[in-house]
Amino acid sequence: MADKNILIGVTGGIAAYKVVEVASRLKKSGANVKVIMTKHATEFITPKTFQEITNNAVSVDLFADAANFNVAHISLADFADLILIAPATANFLAKMAHGIADDLLTTTILAFDKKILLAPSMNTKMFENPATQANLNILKARGVQILEPASGNLACGTVGKGRLPEPAEICEEIEKIFAPKVLSGKKILVTAGGTVEAIDPVRYIGNRSSGRMGYEIAKSAVKNGAEVTLISGKAEIEPPNGLKHFVKVESALEMRNEVLKEFETADAVIMSAAVADYRVKTPAAQKIKKSSDNLTLELVKNPDILRELGTLKKNQVLVGFAAETQNVLDYANKKLVEKNLNFIVANDVTLEGAGFGVSTNIASIIWRDGSVENFSKMSKAELAEKIVQRLSKALNQ
Ligand SMILES: Cc1cc2nc3c(=O)[nH]c(=O)nc-3n(C[C@H](O)[C@H](O)[C@H](O)COP(=O)(O)O)c2cc1C
Repeated sequence: MADKNILIGVTGGIAAYKVVEVASRLKKSGANVKVIMTKHATEFITPKTFQEITNNAVSVDLFADAANFNVAHISLADFADLILIAPATANFLAKMAHGIADDLLTTTILAFDKKILLAPSMNTKMFENPATQANLNILKARGVQILEPASGNLACGTVGKGRLPEPAEICEEIEKIFAPKVLSGKKILVTAGGTVEAIDPVRYIGNRSSGRMGYEIAKSAVKNGAEVTLISGKAEIEPPNGLKHFVKVESALEMRNEVLKEFETADAVIMSAAVADYRVKTPAAQKIKKSSDNLTLELVKNPDILRELGTLKKNQVLVGFAAETQNVLDYANKKLVEKNLNFIVANDVTLEGAGFGVSTNIASIIWRDGSVENFSKMSKAELAEKIVQRLSKALNQ
């Protein structure tokens, strides 16, 4: 990490003392480390300790250098390649999630647009409190990377989740962030989940997609260094950490709009969403009342997003999915060619351990030259990693 500038934000948690070792390890690995402490953090440990360890002045007060026209929060934000907040208090998470800027650390965060790693640490009940969880979800959705707190004995005398991970683990995570990666500098668009087509204000036509496959692909692409936008229909799980953008949509038409906005600047698109082929022609404005014995819904065809991208495509790598119940390879091959894809991931959703709602999949990847790779049953996370490796190959062809 020789050429890296790392800013550590220390907030007022009991684990603040552990971050001295984090700063020391980062410094030893060659990084230039600066520290901002909140006023409450100085109740737990003195700025002097961090100053000695980092060889840099430690900042606490937003207005300390105002007389010298040195705008500390801007210069510190400009300095950093990465900001680590450790420990991140519940209070800090709440402020960051809502854009509050009432001290040097929170103001610096607002002026910073690169990578942020948060290491929350607190009492288990504080961590599990719906307010804290909601704040963490807001931050995750904004692309902030969050280190899961460890479980064990807490300083408050209880046992549970909320411990700051060990300094070595925090530093490993930072090393991973800076390690060169196969998708570094690539903008990847992933769609996931199932679209929802309104029948009336309370009912819809949906499908069984859980979003798991696409979310795992997005996660793996982030891990491999890509700048990832995840556009998601209905899904049963939380979006992964580290996304550049997370866009939630309902209908196929909304998904199409969002995908088209991102397509031109994307290097690759992986369309794993289960997009409805048809929508209700005229959704009722009011809830449909139970009256006659039969009810007929008129459906109209939705636009075929993948086909449209295949037509618009310049240098983008385009990857599709074929979730079929019969003649899987034939259908997938047809789709691959018709939609101008680079490769297609095909699976028979009737097989046990494959398809919707389960955490495993059994898939094949079919390439334009006709070659087929058949994978045995594996977790969706493992399959995602394989797809991302193939994507990197296709991007370099
Ligand atoms: C002894 C003591 C230990 C504390 N430990 C934590 C902690 O580990 N995590 C946390 O979120 N808050 C903890 N708090 C509460 C925070 O210090 C408090 O919410 C404070 O306002 C945080 O300010 P800051 O986020 O600006 O640093 C602790 C408070 C005390 C008195």
